[in-house]
Amino acid sequence: MKILFVCLGNICRSPLAEGILNKKIQLLGLNWEVDSAGTNGFHNGEAPHKYSQKIAAKYGIDISKQRSRQIRKADFVHYDLIYAFASDVMRDMKHIAGDSFKEQSCKYFLLPSGEDGETDVLDPWYGGEDGFTEVYEVINDGCDKIIDTVLK
Ligand code: 4NP
Repeated sequence: MKILFVCLGNICRSPLAEGILNKKIQLLGLNWEVDSAGTNGFHNGEAPHKYSQKIAAKYGIDISKQRSRQIRKADFVHYDLIYAFASDVMRDMKHIAGDSFKEQSCKYFLLPSGEDGETDVLDPWYGGEDGFTEVYEVINDGCDKIIDTVLK
């Protein structure tokens, strides 16, 4: 199974998802490929946000070696499941993928759990450290649901 998480900058939300899911699959002995990317490329080559690194480290997850990269068309062929963190991200993904966009592999991160139809994971980029603590919980729950969904 090859999974890609996608947010806007690939420095706040999707790096956390990559780190959290990698830790979970390692504990479960699952040989999946997990990566993350951003749609806007503004932070290409940068390490994750310091507060994303800090909250991950609190849970024993080292994401400091990740580097931001922009999603590319080839990703839509390579990955089995691509999770968008918000509706603006999904819109950008459709634009970048063009004719490689596949409805069955491009999902909203929140929708496996989303009884209320919410598609957007809070973007902590615009707030303080508390937002990163909050978003960690949301992403941790979402990663559990992805594992359940894939293994079902
Ligand atoms: P992320 O947060 O999409 O969770 O990585 C953001 C980071 C940077 C920007 C927007 C969102 N930005 O516009 O630079």
